[in-house]
Amino acid sequence: MNNYVLGIDLGTSSLKGLLISKDGKVVATSSSDYCVIHPKAGFSEQDPQEWINAAKNVIKQILTKVPSAKTNIEAISFSGQMHSLVLLDKNDKPVRNAILWNDVRTTKECLYITEKLGKDLIKITKNRALEGFTLPKILWVMLNEPNVWKKVCCFLLPKDYLGFWFTGNKQMEFSDAAGTLLLDIEKKIWSSRIAKTFDISKNLYPKLVNSTDKIGIIKKEIAKELGIENEIPLYAGGADNACAAVGSGITLENVGLCSIGTSGVFLSYESSTIKDYGGRLHFFNHVVKDCYYSMGVTLSAGNSLNWFKKTFADNLSFEELLKGIDDIAIGSDNLLFTPYLVGERTPYADSQIRGSFIGMDVNHTISHFTRAVVEGITFSLKDSMEIMQKDAGKKFERIVSVGGGAQNKNWLQIQADIFNSTITTLTIEQGPSLGAAMIAAVGVGWYKDFKSCADKFVSFGDVFQPNQKRAEKYKDVYELYKQVYPSTRGICKNKIG
Ligand code: XUL
Repeated sequence: MNNYVLGIDLGTSSLKGLLISKDGKVVATSSSDYCVIHPKAGFSEQDPQEWINAAKNVIKQILTKVPSAKTNIEAISFSGQMHSLVLLDKNDKPVRNAILWNDVRTTKECLYITEKLGKDLIKITKNRALEGFTLPKILWVMLNEPNVWKKVCCFLLPKDYLGFWFTGNKQMEFSDAAGTLLLDIEKKIWSSRIAKTFDISKNLYPKLVNSTDKIGIIKKEIAKELGIENEIPLYAGGADNACAAVGSGITLENVGLCSIGTSGVFLSYESSTIKDYGGRLHFFNHVVKDCYYSMGVTLSAGNSLNWFKKTFADNLSFEELLKGIDDIAIGSDNLLFTPYLVGERTPYADSQIRGSFIGMDVNHTISHFTRAVVEGITFSLKDSMEIMQKDAGKKFERIVSVGGGAQNKNWLQIQADIFNSTITTLTIEQGPSLGAAMIAAVGVGWYKDFKSCADKFVSFGDVFQPNQKRAEKYKDVYELYKQVYPSTRGICKNKIG
């Protein structure tokens, strides 16, 4: 009889479940959607009850697909959208909707945090204050909804709230706690300096645990409702980016992750030494105990290509649109694109900047523009990679490419040439839910560490090698690309209307 672990990924638009056996065979997957509520422009919220309903749907669907799982799931763990704030009252009920990571109402609070903490902010948290992070959201609720704040007895992040619902125990693990701006990343304790500065009572903080720590067993009444017949232990889980990294086999310092979805992430595993990026990159505790990861975020990665296709070539499929880019020269015959359509996070934390095409010429065709967009997105991710190389001396032997950017062979070759590094794809991409399942597998003792679990659970696909001639040419184009931000920053600040 096969035994399984279940990984649950609580995402922004859906919750996904992945059931996997000890030998790494994905036995079933399932997902259930929910909506994001936008009460005002820039506000982004969700009702935590929706996550619970989705978790119930997903588990029921999985048990219908694989009836033997009713008695054979050995462990469950979680991955979750980062930073999103869940506030609970004295009866452990949410006092308001969760405020999500992509909510941007907190610019004032970010400035306030930066001013109040000065140099200590980066020293303690290793990160800058950004609208997406949790502390600015807490301050916003304190100031704008004092009656709501009065009722708050505890704050959690989404997947920790789900873990609490499953087990009755409240906690937060380090990889997600790192994204709150309340954690002393190095000491792995809630920062007293930050708590005192913003008058946040220590009673509100959840206890801190490691990702692979057992947080309890599934409540009897929940197991009964879902049709689960055995006592399942639950493990704390991790932030979705950390889970995506281990789920893509990123368990070594010299292997990077390039993930191009709506937004793009360039991520690197950092083992146990703190790297000082001065806040230019995100630097968080990892799901791998006492290790870290750094990452840069391009807010509008795949989104730039979606926007371009929808606006200028809606009649073409992505495949048709990208087909022509291989016939266009490197640098798109002097056409540059910067992907700052919704502002940017890395390397420029700038909500005012906007994208641009520079160098348009009468000879440029739709394929030139498409190639320029693809190159611009990749350059933006190279910006993050370059900070890792320059500031921390990192060397990437291999980069695992996932998401939309890994669906097209021409784009994968462009990544190899721009990053000047070997690019590998995955045979099957499962995203953060696989990382969550790996936490369960390591937590329950199937594997001694993430590396040996990845050897079984992750398999690599096509390989793309950089071509030295093209890589050299790209170096020059990249130098020009880097001049676009400082040259357009001033123009973008002075918007009319
Ligand atoms: C990371 C971030 C997003 C969310 C998405 O800093 O804000 O990637 O984790 O769920």
